[in-house]
Amino acid sequence: MMYDLIEQARAVIAAQLATAPRVALILGSGLGALADELEQAVVVPYRAIPGFHEPQVAGHRGELAVGVLSGQPVAVLRGRFHFYEGYTMQQVTFPVRVLRALGCETLIVTNAAGGLRPDWQVGEIMRIADQIFLPGMAGHHPLIGPNDERLGPRFPAMVGAFDPELASLARAVAAEQGLTLREGVYCMLAGPSFESAAELRLLRGLGADAVGMSTAPEVIVARHAGMRVLGLSLITNLALPDGPPANHEEVLAAGELARARFAALIRGVLARM
Ligand code: HPA
Repeated sequence: MMYDLIEQARAVIAAQLATAPRVALILGSGLGALADELEQAVVVPYRAIPGFHEPQVAGHRGELAVGVLSGQPVAVLRGRFHFYEGYTMQQVTFPVRVLRALGCETLIVTNAAGGLRPDWQVGEIMRIADQIFLPGMAGHHPLIGPNDERLGPRFPAMVGAFDPELASLARAVAAEQGLTLREGVYCMLAGPSFESAAELRLLRGLGADAVGMSTAPEVIVARHAGMRVLGLSLITNLALPDGPPANHEEVLAAGELARARFAALIRGVLARM
């Protein structure tokens, strides 16, 4: 049963910690290096945690780091599980459950995304103002099945899922740092193929500003569990119907280039939470 597996994972991790983390951070493709900046870090490899798996995707390492970042006790998931790897939506979102059980009340979730707006630049950061969870709408949803009331309500609301206070904080920190912070709608597709030109036109028509293959299920589960959520996408490529095809190498390279700016924004937000 999921509740018991969450508890087992929580206990394995908690046994190694002196203090409980309050903020959970999920670092997407190429953004994991921030975990190296933790103070008093305790690192737990995913293979040591019940219910976790070894990530298979280049740029995702597969360890949980708990420590202090900009004065905040944080738990950093370095590497995530993707639906396209063959995991179920419950497996994809299991780490969020565990971090909630460890004491995290806030989730900062990041990803690499294709930008759907021709006026945006590669390397820019978009705060996720809202999301479209296409696989969820099509029946691949982490909350399908019996609902365990200990974990959250049967029918959680998703209007306002992205916390307005954290949004203001992110805007203020970006302004201080002279950083352009875009805001928009993130649309999750299952992947792993990149979108066709017709699909990109469709996504624009749906009101999406960025497209990726993660994040939406984690946000749903975090909200189900009552966490506050800040979502940040790094625009690693422009996904335009008449543009060049996307590839994973450019996604990783853009992560590398934007790493310092991205890290500074997250640190600034943590410092003021
Ligand atoms: N499409 C889907 N997922 C992505 C992209 C993209 O263009 N870039 C980074 N992740």
